[in-house]
Amino acid sequence: MARKNRPPQDDIAVGDCIASMNAWPEGCVDLIFADPPYNIGYKYDQYEDKRDDHDYVNWTYDWIDACTRLLTPGGSFYILIGDEYAAETRVHLKQLERDRRLVFRNWIVWHYTFGQNTRAKFNRSHAHLFYCVGPAAFDKWQVKAPPFAFNRDAIAVPSARQTTYADARANPKGKLPDDTWYLRPQETQGEYFKANEDTWYLSRLCGTFKERLGWHPCQLPEALLERIVRLSSHEGDVVFDPFVGSGTTLAVAARLGRRWLGCELSDEYAAKALERVRHVAATGEAMQTTLTDKGIERGKPKKKAEPHRSPHLRGRRRGAGAAS
Ligand SMILES: C[S@@+](CC[C@H](N)C(=O)[O-])C[C@H]1O[C@@H](n2cnc3c(N)ncnc32)[C@H](O)[C@@H]1O
Repeated sequence: MARKNRPPQDDIAVGDCIASMNAWPEGCVDLIFADPPYNIGYKYDQYEDKRDDHDYVNWTYDWIDACTRLLTPGGSFYILIGDEYAAETRVHLKQLERDRRLVFRNWIVWHYTFGQNTRAKFNRSHAHLFYCVGPAAFDKWQVKAPPFAFNRDAIAVPSARQTTYADARANPKGKLPDDTWYLRPQETQGEYFKANEDTWYLSRLCGTFKERLGWHPCQLPEALLERIVRLSSHEGDVVFDPFVGSGTTLAVAARLGRRWLGCELSDEYAAKALERVRHVAATGEAMQTTLTDKGIERGKPKKKAEPHRSPHLRGRRRGAGAAS
């Protein structure tokens, strides 16, 4: 049998993630976060996000299997996915659990705000986040010593017993967040909110935010990844993202002292993401941009639009209006 290559360290492999992953030895990453293309017609520079339905589902199973092989037995695996393929993805994870390769732990709903303004149906304001761990969790284990990283105190939030009822029984270390994630400003590092705006739930990154770099259509907020990386990995662990995009997962991993590894089909995205992650690794600070950098004047549209939804979907997505 051919020997497998060692995966690169603190780097992004350019090209198809399945080919890269299959060339690496099994059990070499501790935490995987995957935010694949959703097959809804997003405009990427090199990937066509509008595949035949069966083709997309089979491809999803293939990359999930490749990730599962790469995970250490005590590793953690998160998948962020939209409504369109959440069911198929969940069914496949169930099969992997039957095969004793993964243990499913939570179906998290990330409730985001901003960015939608439909005209004839409800605005979509959520994505699905599946949380699984490796097969070490099939063995007997105690809550105090799980066989996977679970840094409860690093992500605990103040409970209502603490903040509202002054209840002496409250755990002074707070409680674990619910499985619907709002990520309030007091739990984020980012600059999404001004001091008097504490009622927003974690927004998608809108174009004017300093964190929004402006060259990738689906950049996730760092706060979302921060919770995952803090909870499910330790310093020095390897955090892997098969669909790097703008590099959010790896930037957060670098900032929190983890090693990082990713795959990205587009050489241009990979180069820019690498620049972002290396900036964070060198300075400890998230990369930020100004409105001027992005060519935005307050109250006026951008001179050159950011890459966004493909025009060919306009006819298909009945009821969808302009972004708010
Ligand atoms: C939803 S985006 C990821 C966004 C990322 N989470 C972020 O915060 O910027 C998906 C990315 O997967 C990349 N991609 C598509 N097919 C791929 C493949 N087979 N292997 C590696 N990357 C791929 C696309 O180029 C795109 O940048």
